[in-house]
Amino acid sequence: FEFLQVLCMHECKHLILEACNLLNSEWPRSKSARLQSLFMSCDKFPTSLVLVLNDFQVVGHVKLSEITVGGPDVMIESVIIHKEHRGKGWGKMLMEDAEEYIRRRGKKMLYLSTRGQEGFYEKLGYEVCMPILYYGVALEPSPEPDTKFRVPTKCKY
Ligand code: ACO
Repeated sequence: FEFLQVLCMHECKHLILEACNLLNSEWPRSKSARLQSLFMSCDKFPTSLVLVLNDFQVVGHVKLSEITVGGPDVMIESVIIHKEHRGKGWGKMLMEDAEEYIRRRGKKMLYLSTRGQEGFYEKLGYEVCMPILYYGVALEPSPEPDTKFRVPTKCKY
């Protein structure tokens, strides 16, 4: 019997170490940097959503961040499903929940960047688009943004 829930990280802080370990199993990084990012999760943005199996195991994660403070666009990053549970449709389910989450908050566009999982996102309806500016934190709106980072992006809607 498998009971799956999508929860906000800040609503299940007791699972934060589990989420950290899941992310580090795929993309090794310092534990403190990971935890800091997960602790930032809040009701607006950034938000980490976790897929929880049977109330105690973190088996998936996505992070949603505004691209510009208060703006209509959201970046989705660190999309992961636990190795043992890939290919069961859980990644799709988590992405659809993330899309619903941003829709409910009045956001219009979801962007992401991938090298290697193009097929997964194409299945979900994402299209290749022009690169966007994304700094890893939401930018204050500015009439003339500079161009430090450009990422190849896919978007939906
Ligand atoms: N290429 C083509 N199709 C794919 C791929 C792929 N790489 N991966 C999944 N699919 C298809 C599946 O066959 C399925 O198709 P169907 O609906 O016709 O049956 C559909 O996409 C949904 O697949 P899921 O089973 O929901 O995918 P899964 O749960 O395995 O999650 C994920 C996919 C998240 C990419 C997983 O493989 C993973 O965690 N990989 C390692 C981490 C990673 O690379 N994450 C993406 C980083 S990019 C970013 O974060 C923006």
